[in-house]
Amino acid sequence: MNIKWDANKYTEDFSFVHQYGNSVIELIDADKGSFVLDLGCGNGTLTKVLQDKGYCVKGLDASEGLLSNCKRKISYY
Ligand SMILES: C[S@@+](CC[C@H](N)C(=O)[O-])C[C@H]1O[C@@H](n2cnc3c(N)ncnc32)[C@H](O)[C@@H]1O
Repeated sequence: MNIKWDANKYTEDFSFVHQYGNSVIELIDADKGSFVLDLGCGNGTLTKVLQDKGYCVKGLDASEGLLSNCKRKISYY
């Protein structure tokens, strides 16, 4: 991957991505407890939304910094 994301500035610069993503999440028609792979989870803002909706979420991202921020947001069971 040739894009270097600034994990500290991601929310400041790219929060519009979460807004688009929220409307996509509304389209998910799966039972609570379903497994969801959030591929390209970034800082985990939407990963957390998915988890709060009751899905069993796994976030995956190529950026170590963003993935680390994601890990701080979500709960582990
Ligand atoms: C535009 S950001 C979206 C992040 C997040 N889903 C959000 O809503 O803010 C794209 C993310 O995809 C990740 N990404 C891009 N290509 C990837 C790949 N091949 N494997 C894993 N992650 C990838 C980037 O590191 C980045 O965090």
